[in-house]
Amino acid sequence: SDDFLMGTALGSRHVNHHYRYPMRQDAKELAVVTREFNCLTAENLMKMEYLQPREGFFNFEQADEFMAFAEENGMAVVGHALVWHSQTPDWLFKDKSGNPVSREVLIARMRNHIHTVVGRYKGRIKYWDVVNEAIDTKMVVDESLPLDEEGNPQKKRVAFYRDSPWLQIIGEDYIELAFRFAHEADPGARLLYNDFSMTDRAKVEFAAGMVQGLKARGVPIDGVGMQAHWHLDYPAVEQLQESIDILAATGVKLSITELDIGVLPRGNHYQGADVSRREELRAELNPYTNGIPAEILREQGEKYRALFEVFRKNREHLERVTVWGVSDKDSWKNNWPVPGRTAAPLLFDANYQPKPAYYALQKPS
Ligand code: XIL
Repeated sequence: SDDFLMGTALGSRHVNHHYRYPMRQDAKELAVVTREFNCLTAENLMKMEYLQPREGFFNFEQADEFMAFAEENGMAVVGHALVWHSQTPDWLFKDKSGNPVSREVLIARMRNHIHTVVGRYKGRIKYWDVVNEAIDTKMVVDESLPLDEEGNPQKKRVAFYRDSPWLQIIGEDYIELAFRFAHEADPGARLLYNDFSMTDRAKVEFAAGMVQGLKARGVPIDGVGMQAHWHLDYPAVEQLQESIDILAATGVKLSITELDIGVLPRGNHYQGADVSRREELRAELNPYTNGIPAEILREQGEKYRALFEVFRKNREHLERVTVWGVSDKDSWKNNWPVPGRTAAPLLFDANYQPKPAYYALQKPS
């Protein structure tokens, strides 16, 4: 086909154990899913804490059900995610006495997890997010710049490998080992590196360097996933285009893997904030308690439209766009960082009706 895959993620409720048969209980949501999308990612249930909660004990019940749903409806599947620092089971990095395991043991655990999971769905999962969020950034003083107007040193953002137990215990080569194990288990699957803030210059350049290094060493990496948890004012289209150029120059394909455009202010002003200002901040952070105004929803639609124009222009590099959820009822951005907060970042409202954002990204006729 001449178009990229259009995917969505299902669903937080599918790991809510109150629902024994989750796929059968969301008829409205699933109707939207099969009508509007041709690709599916499991929002949680293929993460390691769910698939292997105890060592050697694999729980595939919900993942199998999810796969069956996708296949019955002819949808491509994205496996998410094999190696990540978050949503890992408690046992993973420790031995029985609670001490960190050795490099050899962690590599063996990683290999076993990847071989078991990727092997089980061999030939049925089109893309795997093999390594997720391995790059971190921070601000440091930039010695090459003069002091600012107030006499303070200016700062710049720098990127580096995230200081996770994977890195601490195995070292930087945990990344390439993960790709090699995944390729052994399913040589036909397309293997991705996936991360957020892939429009921040320092991070994008670091990621591109990493991909070049992996390719130079013959590591089987097929693509980079840009998560795309974005906002009304971020990123600018030029910034997105620049990032696509930098990443595409490495020769791998790109996917937009977790798109959502929240209508609330960027950043988490709440965590680490002055606790005595909690209530004050609560109102500031949750301005739309009586619903999102129509003009904001239109602005959101325009942002989706502008970014999709960039996606379409870069069709030769882009394989897929996945939105991170179906309706505003279930977005992970809701209730965070304060309860009751509604970021309304998706294409369908809480009643599964299409929003201006949905109409904005229909192809121009
Ligand atoms: C999120 C899910 O949406 C939530 O339901 C869950 O509680 C936490 O994880 N980056 C990722 C995704 O790669 O797996 C995360 O998904 C969002 C950030």
